[in-house]
Amino acid sequence: MAGLIGSEFLFIVVLLSFSIGCLAATPPVVKAAYYPSWRSFSPSDVDTSLFTHIFYAFLIPNNVTYKFEIDNSTALLLSNFTATLHNKTPSVKALFSIGGGGDATRTLLARMASSQTTRQTFINSAIETARNLGFDGIDIDWEYPQTQEEMQDLESLFQEWRQAIKAEAEATNRAPLLLTAAVNFSVKIFWPVPLSYSVQSINQNLDWVNAMCYDYHGNWDTSVTGAHAALYDPNSNISTSYGLTSWVQAGVDPKKVVMGLPLYGRTWTLRDPNQHNIGSPAVGVGPGPDGVLTLTEVEQFNKEKNATVVYDTATGSTYSFAGTSWIGYDDATSVNTKIRYAKSLGLGGYFLFAISYESGWEISRQASEAWSNP
Ligand SMILES: *[C@@H]1O[C@H](CO)[C@@H](O)[C@H](O)[C@H]1NC(C)=O
Ligand SMILES: *[C@@H]1O[C@H](CO)[C@@H](O)[C@H](O)[C@H]1NC(C)=O
Ligand SMILES: *[C@@H]1O[C@H](CO)[C@@H](O)[C@H](O)[C@H]1NC(C)=O
Ligand SMILES: *[C@@H]1O[C@H](CO)[C@@H](O)[C@H](O)[C@H]1NC(C)=O
Ligand SMILES: *[C@@H]1O[C@H](CO)[C@@H](O)[C@H](O)[C@H]1NC(C)=O
Ligand SMILES: *[C@@H]1O[C@H](CO)[C@@H](O)[C@H](O)[C@H]1NC(C)=O
Repeated sequence: MAGLIGSEFLFIVVLLSFSIGCLAATPPVVKAAYYPSWRSFSPSDVDTSLFTHIFYAFLIPNNVTYKFEIDNSTALLLSNFTATLHNKTPSVKALFSIGGGGDATRTLLARMASSQTTRQTFINSAIETARNLGFDGIDIDWEYPQTQEEMQDLESLFQEWRQAIKAEAEATNRAPLLLTAAVNFSVKIFWPVPLSYSVQSINQNLDWVNAMCYDYHGNWDTSVTGAHAALYDPNSNISTSYGLTSWVQAGVDPKKVVMGLPLYGRTWTLRDPNQHNIGSPAVGVGPGPDGVLTLTEVEQFNKEKNATVVYDTATGSTYSFAGTSWIGYDDATSVNTKIRYAKSLGLGGYFLFAISYESGWEISRQASEAWSNP
């Protein structure tokens, strides 16, 4: 009897310490947004109750030395950015994101990552910049490695970066900087050659990855309308559900996968105003530069043109149309569906691209509440 009680007791203790261990190991939810530096939107305007992390987009190192050369006015602005976000109630963490789209940035990062010497210069400069300006972490957005060799360079970069961050934290007795990467929606990228991100390197070295679950369709194919951030696509693998599942199935810790949500729409001009479904014939882009509208502009368009708004359950996305103008985007309903999907996969959270693309905080609030309320 006593023995039985003993083993039951032991069992409970083991169970208890197991769940405490799990609790301690569970990273906090990520409710993030990129902060586009090119828009006039002040960090003091961020509703920090809706976010945990804000990514300043973007910083780019010198293309020859690979060091960050921040002029005095930018340094002042960035120190103000981090201090403002830290001083708010509640406070949020501030990271800066390195890179962004465009061939020049892509080739710069590829050259930087191609040798250990240049990687080390870059890493040291990034860490120094983060500490000098009060950032909590660093993100890299390399769109995208194009060869097996570049993938391996990225792997080496992650590993050496993590080592340097650990060493700096120990030497200065501070919390280590966060290290994250913006990555393709899928663990396998298809172009120009099939490549896979290194799952092991991500699990070991990054706090998480931001999966860019958008831009599946756009002005590069104007022949048919498309849901550019479709959760589901019955006809292809270019969808958020496929992409996120691919990361998890490849073995990345689900808590280290963070789902991207676009706060912008992509537009087309319909060939025939009476054919207005997803996949209907189109003849070009619709309203907005390069066929892109921020969510604020989408809402303005819908109102001014008395557009018809449709939530499409097959793709988990929303579109609107008026006359020959057609817009695919995410609204509160599709965002809610996606958040429930991401939670069901056990992901670490979500990020928005980008803060200030909506007027008010409707979608940011919807996402935050949908994540927090079961
Ligand atoms: C680096 O940037 C400068 C200034 O933008 C440009 O003129 C030069 O061609 C670039 N060098 C390389 C190697 O890309
Ligand atoms: C920038 O700041 C540094 C140190 O704060 C100072 O020495 C330098 O003169 C400043 N440069 C300019 C152009 O104001
Ligand atoms: C940031 O800059 C704004 C505008 O110049 C200023 O009002 C604010 O006090 C600054 N905040 C911090 C924390 O430096
Ligand atoms: C990354 O994802 C996009 C879809 O958002 C896809 O069109 C593109 O081909 C992918 N990039 C690569 C390099 O495969
Ligand atoms: C989607 O991906 C799966 C698994 O990689 C593959 O078997 C299937 O053929 C793909 N489907 C399409 C429509 O490309
Ligand atoms: C707006 O569209 C609806 C149908 O979608 C129509 O019933 C209504 O009369 C329209 N209103 C205006 C002001 O055009």
